[in-house]
Order: sequence, then structure tokens, then C-alpha cells
Amino acid sequence: MFGKRGVNKGFSDASRPDEKSEPERPKPTPAHEAEERRAAPPPAEAGPQESSPLESAPLNAAEDSASALLEPRSPTPEPPAAPMEDIRPKSAQPRSDKPKRNRSEEYYDVKTTVFTALIDTIDLTQLARLDADVAREEIRDIVSEIVAIKNVVMSIAEQEELLEDICNDVLGYGPLEPLLARDDIADIMVNGAETTYIEVNGKVEPATIRFADNGQLMNICQRIVSQVGRRVDESSPICDARLPDGSRVNVIAPPLAIDGPTLTIRKFKRDRLTLDQLVRYGSISPEGRTLLAIIGRVRCNVIISGGTGSGKTTLLNCLTAYIEPDERIITCEDSAELQLQQPHVVRLETRPPNLEGEGQVSMRDLVKNCLRMRPDRIIVGEVRGPEAFDLLQAMNTGHDGSMGTLHSNSPRECISRLESMILMGGYNLPAHTIREMIVGSVDIIVQASRMRDGSRKITRITEVIGLEGDVVTLQDLFVYDLEGEDSSGRILGRHRTTGIARPAFYERARYFNEEKRLAEALSAGEVLDETGRPLGERVG
Ligand SMILES: Nc1ncnc2c1ncn2[C@@H]1O[C@H](COP(=O)(O)OP(=O)(O)O)[C@@H](O)[C@H]1O
Ligand SMILES: [Mg+2]
Repeated sequence: MFGKRGVNKGFSDASRPDEKSEPERPKPTPAHEAEERRAAPPPAEAGPQESSPLESAPLNAAEDSASALLEPRSPTPEPPAAPMEDIRPKSAQPRSDKPKRNRSEEYYDVKTTVFTALIDTIDLTQLARLDADVAREEIRDIVSEIVAIKNVVMSIAEQEELLEDICNDVLGYGPLEPLLARDDIADIMVNGAETTYIEVNGKVEPATIRFADNGQLMNICQRIVSQVGRRVDESSPICDARLPDGSRVNVIAPPLAIDGPTLTIRKFKRDRLTLDQLVRYGSISPEGRTLLAIIGRVRCNVIISGGTGSGKTTLLNCLTAYIEPDERIITCEDSAELQLQQPHVVRLETRPPNLEGEGQVSMRDLVKNCLRMRPDRIIVGEVRGPEAFDLLQAMNTGHDGSMGTLHSNSPRECISRLESMILMGGYNLPAHTIREMIVGSVDIIVQASRMRDGSRKITRITEVIGLEGDVVTLQDLFVYDLEGEDSSGRILGRHRTTGIARPAFYERARYFNEEKRLAEALSAGEVLDETGRPLGERVG
């Protein structure tokens, strides 16, 4: 069996095991060493002009709108009218979402007309240079005037709504604004102008917004991606970007997306969940929480495995809460999501290629560079490719307590994915050597799952023990037994430990004076069978 970092997975004396320089550690091939490290120009910054608000004018605005003007409509019953200036705070911040009526086609016609008149009246490029509050004021005045001149019959409330909409179009992300303002939404999924879904509390539901047409939607997509110096159109129809608030955005446009521009936003959570909250949500038991806290503190090397949206990043963030404040932590992410509370953190972010296809900085470049930055721990937001090799190497060479997330559905699959990612790096290593490397580096795999009722659970905390022949041996410390579901479709089950009293990282826990707490959590989390014995490693 391959001795883990020397002393069978742990270490018993105060000094760090120095057998860490395994002779087997494969050396990078020269080709890879020679990998270019171009100092590329920064991506072209898109000025406000490039994303001119003009673009967001509904494309189908009738040229002769003035004459086609709205016949006075029968006024709807008005709520007691307040003076317009008092109605809202004048801020460019997205407003809270009030339940919106399903708007009629008529509304969009009116809006198009007013919008057209507005852009005829003012210089939008000038407007874009103004402070957002001032710009909003400006628009407000002009729109009220247009409404008066064109004799549009509208209640004050309707006018307010129209104004809000138009401001959102000119200054922000149009119909997306109310959704972006909501903190309870995890994802926004726009499938063409007509259809938008949101994920709220783990459930996907239709949203009540729509775009005037695909042209407007495309303009909004364009505006979002131009802020990070990118472009999306027929010739480059796929694009990743980020909103100023940190939300992650993906756009895929026609002709690839058949039914119109498709926009997916993973909203940035200002307040990441804590382990205590996960206990409250039933994602993990109190004993599981203690186990994770110890794992985070005693510098186990951890891979968090799970599907998309299963809560990997959330969990990684939770684990980092237990890192000591005096450690130097370097994080590498595709898009900075982690919110570490420690004082000594360096945050790195990858960079996609610019419009000319140059200047890309990959995750692998970052992780390799990290090693020269004297980190105590390296945290990789998402391991997707050959950077797996560099992360494992870091784990293996004194950066204990490094962590990363990886997309896979079980700890076993996680191992094989790590293996294939290392192969992706072009290393021509025998499978056995790669497995030795994995076993020598990864201590713990935490499995996160999104259950079919939308809840997220930590379904496994598994130790990587060693190699038997060519097979990596795993040992579950903590599992979730699925027991069925209740009448409303909610998942029923329970978390438990598996009766293992001395996990492989016991010595490590002892080194950090955590062995007592560890033993207590492991025994308190046990569930006994009829004969009074722990259910043990029975697969749930
Ligand atoms: N245990 C949980 N309970 C409820 N919601 C959760 C839980 N874990 C994560 N979430 C929410 O699920 C969404 C996706 O989580 P995230 O950690 O980004 O997933 P991943 O990194 O696996 O794609 C986020 O909005 C997050 O707040
Ligand atoms: Mg994630």
C-alpha cells in the first residue's frame, strides 16, 4: 500500500513529514514546461459608447410613431395619486420586485412609442456619461413630458411602472433588473425573449418578465458581455461574462441557440451560507458539521465533489471558515465567488482570450503560479482540467489543507475524473502512478448532491485510504441514507457516521488537538441497528 505522505496518512510528531518529495512524483514534460506565458494586453475595455443605450431601443419601433400614437385609452381606476417626485427614491439601484401584472401587448406598444420619442429627444451617449441618479431624473422628466404631449392616458402608477421599465432599459439590464434585485433567486434562465425561468428555494419556476423581442434581449446580452471586454454575435455566439455584482453569466446566441438568445445567470450570493445554516436546512447533521469543521481546521486536503448547482462552492466556502487567520491562502477561480474571511488572502481569477483570441490565462497557469507565491493553502474554485495535476502536486508538497471542487457524482467517480484530468495534461504516466499520486495527495472527498426535491445534501464524507493493487481504497466516514419521500415530495432520510472510530486522519487531528472532538462527533453520529451495533459502512 502506498504510504500517504510518508506516515500512513497521518503524522505523529510535531514536524511535518518530510517524505513528501515522493520519488514517484512525475515531472512535467519539457513541452509543458515550455508552455508560453505571454504577457498579453488586457482585454479591450468597453467604453459606455460601445454599449450605447441606443442599442436597447426596441428594434421594431415604428418610424412614424408620432402619428400612430396611442389613442386615449379608458383610464384604469387610479390609486390615490402621490406627487410623482415622492414616489420613489432616486437611485440607479435595481428596485425590489413587486409582483408585476402580466403586461398586455398594448403596454409594450405604448412603451415602444414613448421609448422612440425619448431617444429622439435626448442624446443617449451623453446620458450614459451622467451619474445614474441624475440620468434617471433626466429620463423621468422627459418621459413625463412625452406622456403629457402625446396624450397617453395612464394612471400615475402605470406611468411609474413605465418609467421604471424605460430607465431599466436605458441604464441597466431591462426586464432583468427586478430579478437581479431579488436576493432569493439563485439562477435566472432566459430562453429567448418570451420565456424566463428562475430558481427559487431550489425549485425552478417561470418568471413573470418578458423582453420586447429577441433584439432587445440580444442588446442586453451584448451590454453585459461588453463590460468585460467581450462580444457576442453570430460569429462568436458563446460567451461567459460577469455582472458588476459578481454574478456569473453565460450567453449562447442564435444560430446555436435555436429559439433565441439564451442567457443564464448564476446570481452572486452576498451572504454565503454557513455550516450552521446547512445544519438548519437539513443538508448535514450537527455531527457532520463538526466533522467538516475539523477537516477544515486540521489541514486535510479536500476535494468537494458534486453536480452542477449541488452546493460545491458553498461548501468550499464553509470549509474555508475554519482556516486559521495566520495562514496565507491563495484562491484560484474562473470567476471570483469565494468569500474568505481571513485577513491574508490573495484572490486570482482566470482570463478568457480577448477578441483576437489572445491573452488567455488558464486555471493551470494560475495554479502553477501559486506555487511560487509561498501559499500555506491553495484553494481552486473548480478543477476541470490539467490543473488537477498541479493542485495534487501542491497538496503533495507541503501545502496541506488545499482544497478544490470537482464535478462528479460520487467519490469513486471523483477519483477517476481526477485521473482523466491528469491525463488531459498530456502526461504519459501509467495509471498506477497517477493513482499513487491521487492517494498521496487527497485526504477527504466530500460529496454534495442536489436531491430531486430541490434540497441540497452532503451525502458522503469519504477518506482516501490507499491503493490495493490498482484500486484506490475509499472509506466512508459519514453518509446520508435515503429513506423515501413524504406526501409532498420532500426527501426523507438521515445522516449518520459509519462506526469508524479512528479515521486515517486521526493522527493529524491529534496534532491539532482535535482528536477528542473528532471521536465524539464520530460516535454521536452513529445510528445503531437492532442488535445495538452501528450500521457501519452499509451503503445507504
Ligand atoms: N445546502 C444548501 N441548501 C440550500 N441551498 C444551497 C445549499 N448549498 C448551496 N445552495 C444554493 O444553491 C446554489 C448553488 O450553489 P453553489 O455552491 O454555487 O453550487 P455549485 O458550486 O455546486 O454549482 C446557490 O444559490 C446556493 O446558495
Ligand atoms: Mg460552483
